[in-house]
Amino acid sequence: MSANLTNVDIFNVLTERRAVKVYDKSYKLSKEDIEELLTLAGRAPSAWNLQQWHFVVFHGDEAQQKLSPIAFNQAQITESSAVIAILGDLEANKNAEEIFANDIEKGRMTPELAEVIKGQINGAYQNAEYKRDAANHNSSLAAMQLMLAAKGKGLDTCAIGGFNRKAFVEEFQISERYLPIMLITVGKALAPGRETDRLSLDKITTWL
Ligand SMILES: Cc1cc2nc3c(=O)[nH]c(=O)nc-3n(C[C@H](O)[C@H](O)[C@H](O)COP(=O)(O)O)c2cc1C
Repeated sequence: MSANLTNVDIFNVLTERRAVKVYDKSYKLSKEDIEELLTLAGRAPSAWNLQQWHFVVFHGDEAQQKLSPIAFNQAQITESSAVIAILGDLEANKNAEEIFANDIEKGRMTPELAEVIKGQINGAYQNAEYKRDAANHNSSLAAMQLMLAAKGKGLDTCAIGGFNRKAFVEEFQISERYLPIMLITVGKALAPGRETDRLSLDKITTWL
C-alpha cells in the first residue's frame, strides 16, 4: 500500500485514531490497497469463526456520489477515497460448511467435532434475535479492525451510523440475508478529527 507505515505502534494507533470528516479528495487508494485493509479487517474474531460480515465497497466518484444522499449528504462520503459499508450476515450459519471443511482438511478439527459444532450453530440460527445480535456484534468487530488497520497504514476513517438503511437496501439491491450496520469512510485527513475525551474509567467499570 502506498500509505504503508512500517513498525507502527499499536498503542499509537489506538490513541491517535479520530473520526476524520475532512479528507483530501485527490488522494487515491487502489483496489489492492482496499483489499489489503479488508483482509486485515476480516482477521477480526467472530463467534465460531463464522465471519458474520460482508463488505460493500464504494470506490470512485460515481459510486460515492450515489451513496451520498443515502448518508444525508455528509461530506466525507464523497471526499474520502472510499467508503466501505459493513453489513452483518443474518445467515452466517451457511458459512459453516466451508469453514469447517477447511479446518478438517488442515487437521485442526475432527469431522466428528465439526458435526457437533455445526449442530450448535444451526440451533443458534433458529433464533431470530440471536441472528440479528450476532450479525451486529461480530460485524462491528470487523468494522473496528478496519478502522485500526487503516490508521496503522497512515490512513483515516470515520464510522457513520447516520444513513437511511431502507434506502440503502433498495438502492443497492442488498439481499435480505444482510443487515446494514455502518459505513466507514477511508482516506487521508485534510484536517484532524475533533478532539474527544472519554468518561472516567470509574464510571464505565465495575470491579467485582
Ligand atoms: C456506530 C457509529 C456511528 C457513527 N455515526 C457517525 C455519523 O453518522 N456521522 C459522523 O460524522 N460521525 C459518526 N460517528 C463518529 C463518532 O461521532 C465518533 O467516533 C465519536 O465522537 C468519538 O470520536 P473519535 O472517533 O474521534 O474518537 C459514528 C461512530 C460510530 C462508532
